[in-house]
Amino acid sequence: MPALLKDKVAIVTGGGSGIGRATSQLFAREGARVVVADIDQEGALETVKMIADEGGEALFVKADVSSEEDVKHMIRHTVDTYGRLDVLFNNAGIGATAKATEATSEHWRKVLGVNLEGTFLGCKYAIPEMIRGGGGSIINMALSWPKSVSARPLPTVPASTEWWVLRRPWP
Ligand SMILES: NC(=O)c1ccc[n+]([C@@H]2O[C@H](COP(=O)([O-])OP(=O)(O)OC[C@H]3O[C@@H](n4cnc5c(N)ncnc54)[C@H](O)[C@@H]3O)[C@@H](O)[C@H]2O)c1
Repeated sequence: MPALLKDKVAIVTGGGSGIGRATSQLFAREGARVVVADIDQEGALETVKMIADEGGEALFVKADVSSEEDVKHMIRHTVDTYGRLDVLFNNAGIGATAKATEATSEHWRKVLGVNLEGTFLGCKYAIPEMIRGGGGSIINMALSWPKSVSARPLPTVPASTEWWVLRRPWP
């Protein structure tokens, strides 16, 4: 079967661990050149090495997805290096198990910054490059936990922010 992402360029945020790492490897196996973006340099470089060891092509960009400057740089560096951008996986996400009554406002804002604003910023700066290249695909990671704010010890904050990613525009 032909590689599905031959000659494509993909960015995976949070590519230094877990789902982001596995997706980066999969994209590379399918022929993409992969930009592994993460705040965790060590984890991301490990992903890049795993891809290189399999004969794939990847590079690391240090980026905090909640920082507009970092996201702009992530997109710019990708296009400067590979000439185009075809796929963005907005995967980076954080959270911690906390009841609504115990979570702090500071933590709430931090999680919103990464899980929601990070997704917005990725789309904002990737879309113009994709249009320039004739099209592209954006995958936004979400969490379908139905309780947005709970008194129970569920991962209240990440669940509620990533749940909003799933919301369709009104009506
Ligand atoms: N694991 C699950 O069962 C599950 C289920 C549904 C959704 N999700 C979501 O999938 C995504 C990945 O989950 P995972 O289990 O692989 O998590 P993980 O913690 O293993 O990986 C997250 C990665 O994101 C990076 N990261 C954190 N903050 C960042 C930031 N500000 N900028 C850039 N990178 C940052 C981390 O360094 C890490 O490498 C998350 O958004 C998570 O909420 C996970």
